[in-house]
Amino acid sequence: MSVLVLGGAGYIGSHAVYQLIEEGHQVIVIDNLITGHKKAIHKNATFYNGDIRDLHFLHTVFEKEDIEAVFHFAASSLVGESMEQPLNYFDNNVYGTQQVLKAMVKAHVDKIIFSSTAATYGEPISIPLTEDMPAIPTSPYGESKHMMEKLMRWAEKSHGIKYVSLRYFNVAGAKESSEIGEDHHPETHLIPIVLQVALGQRENITIFGDDYDTSDGTCVRDYVHVEDLIDAHLLAWNYLNQGGNSLICNLGSNNGFSVKEIIETARKVTGKNIPIKTGVRRAGDPSKLIASASKAQNQLHWHPKRTSIEKIIIDAWNWHVNHPNGYGKED
Ligand code: UFG
Repeated sequence: MSVLVLGGAGYIGSHAVYQLIEEGHQVIVIDNLITGHKKAIHKNATFYNGDIRDLHFLHTVFEKEDIEAVFHFAASSLVGESMEQPLNYFDNNVYGTQQVLKAMVKAHVDKIIFSSTAATYGEPISIPLTEDMPAIPTSPYGESKHMMEKLMRWAEKSHGIKYVSLRYFNVAGAKESSEIGEDHHPETHLIPIVLQVALGQRENITIFGDDYDTSDGTCVRDYVHVEDLIDAHLLAWNYLNQGGNSLICNLGSNNGFSVKEIIETARKVTGKNIPIKTGVRRAGDPSKLIASASKAQNQLHWHPKRTSIEKIIIDAWNWHVNHPNGYGKED
């Protein structure tokens, strides 16, 4: 039997595919390659180029392949972009997930591991964030992910589909072997941008606001190594296979780093100066986001191994040095 990975050519999805294959699973990938990279798809995965909004296409794949579970990473994921194109976000993310669930119902596939986000919470009422806190998203992106969680909840009630929804905090790093890594166009995330400055591809990094109510005035985020993050997905699947109930879990580290601390660590790791500029606050940025990771630890037995921020930045840096142009020109 196979695992179907939706969005398996993207940053996080491709890491899931590699880890699943390394653990001996057969993997089917669906990706429309709009933000994903063909070169990121593991050579032993069976690849279908298509869109999850195309129900007919999904039915064809589910009929042809013997699928036992779905890992769902296929979504638009930029907070800023979602503020400009909310309807596109609901179309790709919510409508897309509706089609996935319909195809699963028809094919009698009853397990899904879902890529959710801390953006479902909106402005935190207190830190660290726990899963029982209210979800009041402040962006169409966060709202769409929250709606996707609700779709799964109802699909479970009516159709028995079990899910684990994993609410990611700030995912960073790359595969330790440097075979795959993070390559977004445009790049908006802090660590890859800082490393592009270190590589001489940008002149400086603009810090979006240094007047927050934090120790050094810059925003604090909770960073998780992409490989630890994927470990949690495999544990979540195992948990469902052992009869576990559907669950929503944070994936974070109980620990936060400021933008300035990230830049300082990147200077140490790369040995480069990394000039900074201080800019205005970016709309919608909460000052501090830190997860309580207790639920993932207790329920899924998730114990991240690559928790030092140096390790996360070293692996990201190795990927950038070995792939200065990311995946480069695609076929
Ligand atoms: N930042 C800068 N300069 C930059 C880029 C980022 O100062 O050039 C700052 C941001 O203002 C923020 C921090 O660095 O304070 C981290 O920013 P990222 O864009 O790397 O990540 P976000 O915290 O904004 O977003 C991430 C994911 C989202 C997810 C969110 C949930 O990318 O998909 O976490 O918390 F919704």
